Amino acid sequence: MSLHLSPELQARLAQPLEIGGVKIYSRVFQAPLSGVTDKVFRGLVRRFAPHSLVYTEMVNATGLHYARELPRIMEVGPEEDPIGIQLFDCRPYFLAEAARMAVDEGATLVDINMGCPVNKITKNGGGSSLLRDPDTAARIVEAVAQAVSVPVTVKTRLGWSDQEITILDFAHRLQEAGAQLLTLHGRTRAQGFSGSARWDWIRKVKQHLRIPVIANGDIFSPAAAVKCLEETGADGVMCSRGTMGYPFLVGEVDHFLRTGQERPAPTPLDRIQMALEHLRGLWEYKGERGIRQARKHMTWYIKDFAGASQFRALLCRIETLREGEALLLQAMERCQEGSRADCESSQDSRNEGDPVLDVVSAQAA
Ligand SMILES: Cc1cc2nc3c(=O)[nH]c(=O)nc-3n(C[C@H](O)[C@H](O)[C@H](O)COP(=O)(O)O)c2cc1C
Repeated sequence: MSLHLSPELQARLAQPLEIGGVKIYSRVFQAPLSGVTDKVFRGLVRRFAPHSLVYTEMVNATGLHYARELPRIMEVGPEEDPIGIQLFDCRPYFLAEAARMAVDEGATLVDINMGCPVNKITKNGGGSSLLRDPDTAARIVEAVAQAVSVPVTVKTRLGWSDQEITILDFAHRLQEAGAQLLTLHGRTRAQGFSGSARWDWIRKVKQHLRIPVIANGDIFSPAAAVKCLEETGADGVMCSRGTMGYPFLVGEVDHFLRTGQERPAPTPLDRIQMALEHLRGLWEYKGERGIRQARKHMTWYIKDFAGASQFRALLCRIETLREGEALLLQAMERCQEGSRADCESSQDSRNEGDPVLDVVSAQAA
């Protein structure tokens, strides 16, 4: 059954989203993902979602205070607007200082991470540990909002654990301190990434606040986005793990919310093509380090054709660009052989003259 977008939902989302005076012309955001959403990946997302807000990976404000130069993960290109630079720490002064640097670098807004569950971050008072320290959380928002003229936003979770779901009071404190938007991941810190995101809590928070609320957690498709927006009443959605190895997702959801039409899903071959582009981009931007980082991305892209698992096993060990390129070109051939066999057996000639296949054949030749 094809997906339906109700006229009420379409009308509700048709206006640009206002975040403290800044207008964003899409209701679908690309999440900050540490180790994933670097400049190369964001460029791929942006191609399909030209108006969506994207985020950098999270940046350590204390590290920034002592660093002699801006870290690579904070680099933002002029073409990347609208973009949020995400910071984490528990020291209001360092965060205010980092926020000024973020704005100098071109941030459309500054986001503070109050949701990261990783021990390395929480044991130093950052990320989700701020859920247990609302006074400091509020002081951080105040300090950052005073330091910069762009909107200050927060991304957080429901609470520390099932026994400590504190989000209603917490979110209200942040709003009163000057936060201009809240992104809410519908899980607790204790949940990590397990279980389902609890969108019912996102609805409660949305009803409790004046500022816009973005729903996050388990948005893996346009269908999930629509369901979440209907159930929560949120002002938009943020896609996260669903974009790993799939930079098409934000654009797919955005397109559906605008038009009510689903974009045709990329084929396994399109995904290999994208993997190749991603690999080359990482090499150009980061050199050998980029190749090591590319390994995980490659394994996320390569699926849904006979032999994919063997390619994944090899791609997660690549040392050089050449090695990666050669494997991906072989994967393309294998994938094409598979689809040719499928075509022959079903007498289906839909792929003939496919521009994607033509490009791939030309490259593989
Ligand atoms: C690999 C990985 C890296 C992440 N890095 C960040 C980060 O830097 N900042 C942040 O706020 N959340 C980060 N998150 C959390 C996601 O942005 C998101 O809140 C979470 O994955 C829930 O959404 P999902 O169920 O759609 O994946 C990360 C998640 C993953 C899986």
